[in-house]
Amino acid sequence: MIIAQISDLHLRTDGQLLKGKVDTMAALEAAIEHLNALSPRPDLVLATGDLVNKAHVQDYQIMRREFDRIKIPVFVIPGNHDDRDMMRRNFENLGYLPKNGAFLHYTLEDHPLRLIALDTKREDHDGGEMCMDRLEWLEETLSAQPDRPTLIFMHHPPFKSGIGFMDKRPFVNADKLETIIRRNSQIVGIVCGHMHRNISVAWGGTIACVAPSLVFQMTMDFTTGSSSSFMLEPAACPVFLWNEDNGLIAHCSLIGDYGPPNSFVVDPL
Ligand SMILES: [Fe+2]
Ligand SMILES: [Fe+2]
Repeated sequence: MIIAQISDLHLRTDGQLLKGKVDTMAALEAAIEHLNALSPRPDLVLATGDLVNKAHVQDYQIMRREFDRIKIPVFVIPGNHDDRDMMRRNFENLGYLPKNGAFLHYTLEDHPLRLIALDTKREDHDGGEMCMDRLEWLEETLSAQPDRPTLIFMHHPPFKSGIGFMDKRPFVNADKLETIIRRNSQIVGIVCGHMHRNISVAWGGTIACVAPSLVFQMTMDFTTGSSSSFMLEPAACPVFLWNEDNGLIAHCSLIGDYGPPNSFVVDPL
């Protein structure tokens, strides 16, 4: 099974550049081209939140139209920049988002690897949260199939990145979430966004990965007290391979034109 991830698209469709620098529509087009060219083709694409920069209906509509050009099924979860109701309305006819309830969490059951989508959005600030209701839903969902290999995907990482300005808002109930994750050995990994960098952490007895953004990357600045900044480093999409024998293998595929594969030849003397 192959899973591709796109994250933190921060789409704006008003013709303005994001932060005055990034053409987010062009970034989305490049990502679509990249995904459609992957060979072998992934089984699904996880779009892990911050789909739009400011929640406007038009942005979601254009995003939906563009996602429909991806030749792989795409599954969305909300980030702190997203609006649940707009997402629900825009993607509801695809059938996987819950029609009712406060949160956009769900499971995907049709693949060898079971997928659980978590909704970590808070209303009052940009940080992540698993409230008691969501923790309870996760526990019940995991206990329903304790022996089935499972991948969790969520927007906010429940751990620190080491980049001070990204770690200012602790994930609410990260400890309670970790306890649940640790108790469920069927979990093969956790896939997140939000940090706009490729990061891997051993957490909760499993591997947790953060995707780069499609539009800009947070500066890898480990200095205490440094102010927030971003870099125009290449966009990328993580690609996860999974099978029973090897478990989860995480790759990261840079988006851009780096030429065709080159064959190794003997260097001339
Ligand atoms: Fe983001
Ligand atoms: Fe975010």
